[in-house]
Amino acid sequence: MSDMKATLKVDGIDEAIDLPVHEGTIGPRVVDVGALTANDLFTYDPGFVSTAACESQITYIDGAKGVLLHRGYPIDQLAEHSDYLETCYLLLYGELPDKDQKEKFVRTVHNHTMVHEQIRTFYNGFRRDAHPMAIMCGVVGALSAFYHDSLDISDEHHRQVAAFRLIAKMPTLAAMSYKFSIGQPFMYPDNSMGYAENFLHMMFGTPCEPSRISPVLAKAMDRIFLLHADHEQNASTSTVRLAGSSGANPFACIASGIAALWGPSHGGANEAVLNMLEEIGDVSRIDEFVARAKDKNDPFRLMGFGHRVYKNFDPRAKVMKEAADEVLAELGMENDPLLAIAKRLEEIALSDEYFIEKKLYPNVDFYSGIILKALGIPTSMFTVIFAVGRTVGWIAHWNEMISGSYRIGRPRQLYTGYAQRDYLPLDKR
Ligand code: CMC
Repeated sequence: MSDMKATLKVDGIDEAIDLPVHEGTIGPRVVDVGALTANDLFTYDPGFVSTAACESQITYIDGAKGVLLHRGYPIDQLAEHSDYLETCYLLLYGELPDKDQKEKFVRTVHNHTMVHEQIRTFYNGFRRDAHPMAIMCGVVGALSAFYHDSLDISDEHHRQVAAFRLIAKMPTLAAMSYKFSIGQPFMYPDNSMGYAENFLHMMFGTPCEPSRISPVLAKAMDRIFLLHADHEQNASTSTVRLAGSSGANPFACIASGIAALWGPSHGGANEAVLNMLEEIGDVSRIDEFVARAKDKNDPFRLMGFGHRVYKNFDPRAKVMKEAADEVLAELGMENDPLLAIAKRLEEIALSDEYFIEKKLYPNVDFYSGIILKALGIPTSMFTVIFAVGRTVGWIAHWNEMISGSYRIGRPRQLYTGYAQRDYLPLDKR
């Protein structure tokens, strides 16, 4: 804590109000407005544009410089040298694991990949054409009905077991939601495989055809999970924290995060990018869509562009772009027509005055969709894959909150409705 303070003078209140100012390790200073309520004042910040909702030690973003650090380590270094499960360990425990710690962690995750056999029957209650995110919202919340031995949030061991279960079972549940939609049998996890490889095996293998997963594609999948692992207090993570602050169980909290992620302004953007590229259909139509994105009277936005925090290149997008080039070269898909549209769209947007002035750069979702499509993942599964990768971030934040002192999250409002008025009987209205 620093000795700095901010002083607020409000019309109608004689005394100036002193507010403490906190300093983090890096990043903007934070004015602590907690004392305002004693003066009958609230702060007003729709969209939480300048509100720090909590203290955290997990992830740091400098949006102006395009920096993303997990526990201090830059995302590009992790993407190059680490892997998804090692990054999970880092996010959960704060340090990179040594060899033994890593082996034990990976083994424990593998031990939890299977889901309770009765969860399979849940899927039969959904329509075959249900969106896989709809299924995920339901089945992840339903885990709390199956794993009663990891619901006591005050017990550190329960929290650990819930974390392992969620990280391990998300790919299994995700692949099951795909298999259900195409009418193929569910595949059991194969614990001899790596995390991403196992996911691809459950997605594309069948009981009569052993899956042959190329190591390049498994690596690309692993990198996608890693690049989505955490992103500090985004909408879904904040939702998980808010749900968790009421004391809800971890499976219910993660289900709330999945629901918040689904929207096209957040995780749903990767699916929306591909749909947009398909709608554009040809390089010759790009100008028309860019013009629509700039038209104030048209709600259309270029999906995969812009970010609340990054006002510079999204560092995840840089890595994702390189990965996209690698994967497409590996698969001999450099001349893919959708990729040609994406590349041209990127060029145009990056040189267009509107996008430059508003600092709208391509974000992680712009390139991840291209890789996922090249990997043969159906578009409707894109956001599910984001959810699989982000699960560790949600849990790390939830656990950080529950392990410390916290209060139920309870924002206030600027009320602009009616003042008190008397009830009118039906015949007087
Ligand atoms: N296309 C055209 N104009 C845009 C776009 C876009 N993609 N994004 C923002 N703008 C304009 C917007 O119209 C506004 O203009 P003005 O100041 O004239 O009213 C200005 O830029 C600021 O936009 P905003 O909506 O106030 O910014 P925000 O911080 O509230 O929203 C965002 C951020 C990501 C929701 C938004 O940029 C967006 O809708 N992008 C497209 C969806 C997308 O790609 N989302 C994925 C985000 S990254 C992954 C994740 O976090 O899940």
